[in-house]
Amino acid sequence: MAQLEEDAANFEGLARDVAQWSSQFQAELKNRPVAASTGRGLPKRMLALNGNGARSAFDDFTAHIAPQLSASAGPRYLGFVTGGATPASIMADWLVAATDQNVAAPGDSIATEVELQAASWLLELFELPSSFEGILTSGATASNVLGALCARQHAGSQQNLDIAKAGLSGSEIEVFAATPHASMQKAFSFSGLGRDAITFVPCLPNSEKMDTNALKSMLKQSKSKGKIVVASAGTVTGTDFDDLREISKLCKIHKAWLHVDGAFGLFARLMPSCKHWTEGIELADSITADAHKWLNVPYDCGIFFCKHPKILQQTCSVAAPYLDIDNTLPAFMDRGIENSRRFRALPVWMSLLAYGKNGYQQLVEKNCAQALALAKWISDSNDYELLVECKLNVVVFRPVGSRDKEVKIALKKINSTGKVYMTPGIWQGEAAIRAAFSNWQTSMKDVKIVCNALKSLTGKDLV
Ligand SMILES: Cc1ncc(COP(=O)(O)O)c(C=O)c1O
Repeated sequence: MAQLEEDAANFEGLARDVAQWSSQFQAELKNRPVAASTGRGLPKRMLALNGNGARSAFDDFTAHIAPQLSASAGPRYLGFVTGGATPASIMADWLVAATDQNVAAPGDSIATEVELQAASWLLELFELPSSFEGILTSGATASNVLGALCARQHAGSQQNLDIAKAGLSGSEIEVFAATPHASMQKAFSFSGLGRDAITFVPCLPNSEKMDTNALKSMLKQSKSKGKIVVASAGTVTGTDFDDLREISKLCKIHKAWLHVDGAFGLFARLMPSCKHWTEGIELADSITADAHKWLNVPYDCGIFFCKHPKILQQTCSVAAPYLDIDNTLPAFMDRGIENSRRFRALPVWMSLLAYGKNGYQQLVEKNCAQALALAKWISDSNDYELLVECKLNVVVFRPVGSRDKEVKIALKKINSTGKVYMTPGIWQGEAAIRAAFSNWQTSMKDVKIVCNALKSLTGKDLV
């Protein structure tokens, strides 16, 4: 393995070059096309028999991969809810790779303690009670999976069943949700309950918010012994918040597990004027949030808060003699999906330390003001129409009078300007364009650039 030894001997120079390349990439983010044209692809090559070393692999990266990367970390990538990466979190992520800690169990490293502290800082950030315990996951989908699995375990225990041990046989479980994120259905598919386990609760008119009167009668009528309610704190298109106070009351009456998906909506708690939207969330059994979205740490990093660590432990516990490590701290492999786990807590820990609660509060407020400015421009324009009032960080619109196919064409044209990247959405059954602000680098100047890009495509150019 002479090549490995040579690379190790040259590591300092390689690391310096990679750091330099990375800072240049960051600096150029605002100038490169937001969505990469991926037409060129990769050259077809067989697996190398003898590799050429790290320097040559880096050269191949810069030649073939770098030019085809998107500016998803940059200020005008408004697709999905993508978030950026703060300087402190990027540095931390390099350190994660360099130190390569496995945060499966405590005993050999401080890494578990870092994750515990990061989780408790997140509770402070969101002003959630310390009765919740936190674990970092690979993303909100993984957190929703944990939510579905814990809820399932709880529903089983109400029927004297240990589902994690003996399976679902004989259990009766019904799930209620109004506008669950698609990943929640995936979570119930993983859980063995199935995507069809969800009974859809109607929404309030012209909204994605759950009609709690409907939930009340549906819970009353349900014959299932185990009940689960999935509520939304920020739906993906309308950014609607379910009435968590009322829902938690109903859950208490019907002994239902309450899981709240607040992947990005939980960050509304950082703004005093919006905090009441999530009133009652402290009564939930479990909560999902994403760190790789509005916390602006690199992928992949989600957050799962749970009030019942015992249930989480029953669900995820790994019983194997070689894993029997004596320690007072929890082993995160017993609380999450993976056994071996990335040290993803470090970017969260370092970024929270670097920017504090005020820094994040300003970031969220700034992004919401930018979304509002774009929404206002769209409302005033003759060519576009706003479909939903902009309440948080998402703008939902379409070219005036356009429908499904035309909306798709317009979105393609908008993205092909290279100035902005947006993604599709559905509002009340009709095609829409979604722009979500969640990056620390975005400024009002960027909003102007986006408006100019939209302005450059009017009338026939648009559809
Ligand atoms: C409300 C909500 N839940 C869950 C998810 C899934 O998140 P992830 O892509 O991190 O798995 C998203 C992603 O957009 C979301 O908006």
